[in-house]
Amino acid sequence: MKQELEYVVSKVCMELFNVDVSVELTRPDEQFGDYATSVALQLGQQLNKNPREIAEKIASKLKHKKIAGTEVAGPGFINIKIQSNLLAMWLFEETKLRVFGRSDLGQGRKVVCEFPSPNMAKPVSVGHLRAAVQGWTIYKLMTHLGYEVVTDNHIGDYGTPFGKWVVGFLYFSSDEKLAKDGIYELARIYIEITAALKTEKEQGDDKLAGEVQGWLKKLEAKDVDAVEYSNRFNKISLDHLHKVMGRLRISTDHELGEAFYVPRGQALTDELLKKGIAKESDGALVVPLDDAGIDTPIMLRKANGTALYATTDLATIEYRQQQWNPEKVFIHTGQEQTFYFRQLKALAKKVGYKDVIEHLWHGLIDQKDEDGTRQKMSSRKGVVLLEELLDVAEKKARKQMKDGNEEDIKAVALGAIKFADFTADRKKGMLFDWESMFSVQGFSGPAVQYAVVRIKSVLAKATDSKPNDISDYDWQAEHALLLLATDFPQLLVELGKNYEMHKLATYLYGLARELNRYYEETQILITKEPIRGYRLWFITVIRDILVDGLDILGIPTPERM
Ligand code: ARG
Repeated sequence: MKQELEYVVSKVCMELFNVDVSVELTRPDEQFGDYATSVALQLGQQLNKNPREIAEKIASKLKHKKIAGTEVAGPGFINIKIQSNLLAMWLFEETKLRVFGRSDLGQGRKVVCEFPSPNMAKPVSVGHLRAAVQGWTIYKLMTHLGYEVVTDNHIGDYGTPFGKWVVGFLYFSSDEKLAKDGIYELARIYIEITAALKTEKEQGDDKLAGEVQGWLKKLEAKDVDAVEYSNRFNKISLDHLHKVMGRLRISTDHELGEAFYVPRGQALTDELLKKGIAKESDGALVVPLDDAGIDTPIMLRKANGTALYATTDLATIEYRQQQWNPEKVFIHTGQEQTFYFRQLKALAKKVGYKDVIEHLWHGLIDQKDEDGTRQKMSSRKGVVLLEELLDVAEKKARKQMKDGNEEDIKAVALGAIKFADFTADRKKGMLFDWESMFSVQGFSGPAVQYAVVRIKSVLAKATDSKPNDISDYDWQAEHALLLLATDFPQLLVELGKNYEMHKLATYLYGLARELNRYYEETQILITKEPIRGYRLWFITVIRDILVDGLDILGIPTPERM
């Protein structure tokens, strides 16, 4: 809708002044109109003419069937008012053609979406939440836009943790303990052996450290015991990860961890050495990146011969290009890896791969302390485990929804937690504040979910309404809501370019609020036909936008709350 009008305005500019301008319509304060443009100010400068006169000329020529009126304001802004019933008819036709908001933009195009990609040594903590939630929403969005999306969980399953686990297990644990506490026992072992290694080092000893390296070597040599330990620990870790992902209702098509890429990464590193792209530096192998303006070289092999994070990523880039040849690879991590990904992208280019990585990083999660100050999120014991966080959220939802069913309670708990991830730009830190997360009045997931539930309860009292024609009604009462509704498809297209998913959350919340206002002012069920039928159709469309929008954010909608 907006796009169509932008085109109309730029066409008028062309006809009047013979200039090609790209017009951007904004949403002014409600009292001024539905759309506004400052194109006349821009043209005034460009043509060295009075912008107000230009605005008057454009406004008087803006005759479009959807435009109800125009007005020139201030130094030359043009405010445009749209006919409500034409907005409604546009929406009516659009929703007949396709699922509203779906597009074929991505037809025949492929992207890879990588998430949540945790490192395996510890139970999944709140530190993994953002990558999981942000990763999933990009997958959903791109699917909605018609792309083919391959999802891949690039788990961190390579490196010292394995050696530490075996040595720690042998000294500090037992089969019984491991069978009983699973991942939590592995985490405990990890903490204990890390502490023991530290003490040992302080005492100038390296017995344990040597054993850790020994087990790593054994694993590389495919020693039977080492492989058995590795399988056993990995299974415990993975089962736990899958359980938590299940509770978050996310999954991926593939799960190719770092370990999978080690052999190919090593081979590629050898090739780069032969080609003179990689160089030796203090026994290690690095690729200098100063030609890309990066002073620190990227390291591909340690002096002791073992592979590194970048070694596995290099092979990952190759594998993805060969397997899927995607036009983009979305990778979600915390902010601390931005420099690394700059290096990695430069390396990829230097080696001759397509530069397709889109690193979508996010800030840390903070929480509010009792005294109201912002702190890095942690529990008394250390990190907050994601399982515990989900338990707390469900408990809160249960309390809020006294006689709600379990499925609905879980939906609201997820709504609260996930939506919070989108209440600000992901690059900013996220504030974890239980109270506002669950506030049905505030900017929260449950507030949007509640709007859907309200529509569902109205619709439950009526039969399906599928009018054939809606043009004999003025649609005045629906004006504000209609205007917002028509924004949805364009918003999704824009998100597909800027990945600013918090804008979807803001949009959905705005729509939910407008809907609440509409309910207060307008009668639906007790209105006479045909208007009753029209309004029922209309709130069905609003429901679909809210449900689809929430679904893109990874949030289910409850039946009741
Ligand atoms: N496992 C890493 C971490 O937890 C994130 C992996 C990101 N993806 C990648 N291809 N490097 O920090």
